[in-house]
Amino acid sequence: MRHPGPGVSPSVVETIGSTPLVALERLCEGTDRMVLAKLEYYSPGHSVKDRIARRMVERAEQRGLLSPGGAIVETTSGNTGIGLAIVAAVRGYRFLAVMSEGNSVERQRILRSLGAEVVLVPQAGGGRPGQVSGEDLVLVERRAEELAQQLGAFRPDQFENPDNAAAHAETTGVEIWEQTGGRLDAWVASVGTAGTFAGVARALKARRPSIRCVAAEPATVRPLAGIPVTNSSHQIQGTGYNRIPPLFDAADCDDAVGVTDQDAIETARDLAAQEGIVGGFSGGANVWAALQVARDLAPGSVVVTVIPDTGLKYLSTNLYQ
Ligand SMILES: Cc1ncc(COP(=O)(O)O)c(C=O)c1O
Repeated sequence: MRHPGPGVSPSVVETIGSTPLVALERLCEGTDRMVLAKLEYYSPGHSVKDRIARRMVERAEQRGLLSPGGAIVETTSGNTGIGLAIVAAVRGYRFLAVMSEGNSVERQRILRSLGAEVVLVPQAGGGRPGQVSGEDLVLVERRAEELAQQLGAFRPDQFENPDNAAAHAETTGVEIWEQTGGRLDAWVASVGTAGTFAGVARALKARRPSIRCVAAEPATVRPLAGIPVTNSSHQIQGTGYNRIPPLFDAADCDDAVGVTDQDAIETARDLAAQEGIVGGFSGGANVWAALQVARDLAPGSVVVTVIPDTGLKYLSTNLYQ
């Protein structure tokens, strides 16, 4: 049926992206620097990962890797799964989300409500709710590979798939450039697959190489800074997997900043209480790191960061207790 007007989207998939960029004026007060936050929870799956889900599925369809009635299997800490579940629901694919049992319960419930099949993988050395380590990720990866083989399913493989970073280079990065009118001095983001950090960094440096691009990582898990891991468990879900991800391009990274769980949590709480922005752990980590980067730049500098998802996904954790 024809859609009734030019402002109507054929589905939620077409509403992904074009998220707001907001000045954190209250958190920056008195600093003579400005941090801007891109609010990715405005997307239908309430995270930055909707962008890559759409792109990876559309490219797989174009390449003949996915056809009507097909299945998708992906390892996910939740957000990529939610994005894929939305795209799979709209396009009619079966979707299996393989995740560690350490991830938050909210994520599992949302996935099931979107029609996904959730496969939970026990944690290495026993359950630690809310804390997912590099070792846990290896187990999750193994299970996903087995399932994909059994079903002959498409594996988006967000850690290896160049469409992940490309989605951010062509949408998130371009939006940031256009929303700021090119008036920014630095880009800061935490790294999970590195798709967000690397894709945006590539887009911005292609337009102005002097834009400083700084990666954030958990203070105890700092492979990007070349510092030995002291404790692989941390609370900044979706980041800090104790490896340099394949999509990470050192040439586009000017520095790496370590963020403690406490700094991430306190900043997330300040963001909510002072800016009305209810982000997740990584949003708190990103803003904390962006404020540090801003401090070291000249007065009048503008630093852009991202709130990857919503704090509403972490209500069962200590984030907003
Ligand atoms: C909440 C959250 N923050 C940050 C990230 C990191 O993003 P990327 O994988 O693009 O590095 C993720 C990735 O899953 C995430 O779920």
